[in-house]
Amino acid sequence: MKNFDFQCKTRLIFGENSVKELKNMISGNYKNILLHYGGGSIKKYGLYNQVIQILGKENVNVFELSGVEPNPKLSLVKEGIKISRENNIDLILAVGGGSVIDSAKAIGIGAKYEEDVWDFFTGKAEPKESLPVGVILTIPATGSETSTGSVITNEDGLYKRSLRSNEMRPVFAIMDPKLTLTLPDKQTFAGIMDMLSHIFERYFTNTPNVDFIDHMSEGAMKSIIKNAYALKKDPQNYNARSEIMLAGTIAHNGVLGIGREEDWASHKIGHEIGALYGETHGVTLAIVFPAWMKYVYKVDIDRFIRFATKVFDVSAEGKNKNEIVLEGIGKFEDFLHRIGLPTSFIEGNLPTDKFELMADKATEEGPIGSFKKLFKEDVANIYKLAL
Ligand code: NZQ
Ligand code: ZN
Repeated sequence: MKNFDFQCKTRLIFGENSVKELKNMISGNYKNILLHYGGGSIKKYGLYNQVIQILGKENVNVFELSGVEPNPKLSLVKEGIKISRENNIDLILAVGGGSVIDSAKAIGIGAKYEEDVWDFFTGKAEPKESLPVGVILTIPATGSETSTGSVITNEDGLYKRSLRSNEMRPVFAIMDPKLTLTLPDKQTFAGIMDMLSHIFERYFTNTPNVDFIDHMSEGAMKSIIKNAYALKKDPQNYNARSEIMLAGTIAHNGVLGIGREEDWASHKIGHEIGALYGETHGVTLAIVFPAWMKYVYKVDIDRFIRFATKVFDVSAEGKNKNEIVLEGIGKFEDFLHRIGLPTSFIEGNLPTDKFELMADKATEEGPIGSFKKLFKEDVANIYKLAL
């Protein structure tokens, strides 16, 4: 196990009707609030009115910036930074999913930085401070409600880039599983793939002696799979919605990565699909991960045997190592199909003629990943495997 220094400052307020706790989070703490949200689902399902009513009873000024798209864009972030500076914003309230939260986080660090906020995403500068960000989460998926991450797309060249900083962890996250009952199936199950992938990116590690977190991760993966099937059967199952909402947070708050080297190549490979075609993040991961697994498993075949046997209950009896691993990956693909996700470009109705360009962009800043370091040619091979 590696040494680590872990802190997650986000206060979690979880459960049915928890939105009313917004009052206590705001009261006396903030004066000028930027309410940030997406394309309108919060208005359609009544959350917007509820939030406005709560804020209306507090002595605060509310400014609004809506229109965050899935795969959020740099231009809107810049608009948010301008509004924040002009109006002395002291809290950004993100109401929505990962895209809204990520956009809010980027506004938060950008408002405190004199130069171009994109500098943070290219590694030219490191965030030193942020405006506080509060969250009301409407889709369990990215874990952005407590994570250190923000992922933004620069329209100039279609670069989708991620940034990690403890400065960006939200100050509070309100999570009512009931809010997720309105999610379309595609978003529910893409979100489930996303949270599983956040565990994969940490579970497939070369760091030895990380048994405690391995067991936690295996339990978490099993629970996500079980509750995914429960939601496939009945999307209105509140208990399964609760389990999945909690899982999304724990999968990416950093706990499952402590003491070990993490990978993150598959996310970068997926981001190129999202940047070019606007595809939902979790769908890009459903396409990339089975191919990545097939490409890298020989680096540590025993780790993949552990995955196959403990998470997908593959029996090892009478099989050689390769057979066990490939059966495990096959069961994972079967799971994805059963929850309605594609596992290839063709199944996902995505173009297949830009693999070289995408591989080039994914490795523009150097090789990616750590379980197996991937160069441009490796990334192109993974896209081809996912054809
Ligand atoms: O825009 P609205 O109208 O609100 O609709 C959204 C959007 O179309 C809709 N939606 C959200 N909650 C809903 C709902 N529809 C009905 N009922 C509800 N309760 O769902 C659509 C997708 O929303 P989005 O926020 O884009 O989804 P998600 O949470 O999956 O976020 C994806 C983004 O987060 C990034 C991804 O790359 C992607 O850009 N990620 C962020 C991470 C982080 N900050 O730590 C880590 C992840 O790995 C990921 O990369
Ligand atoms: Zn993700």
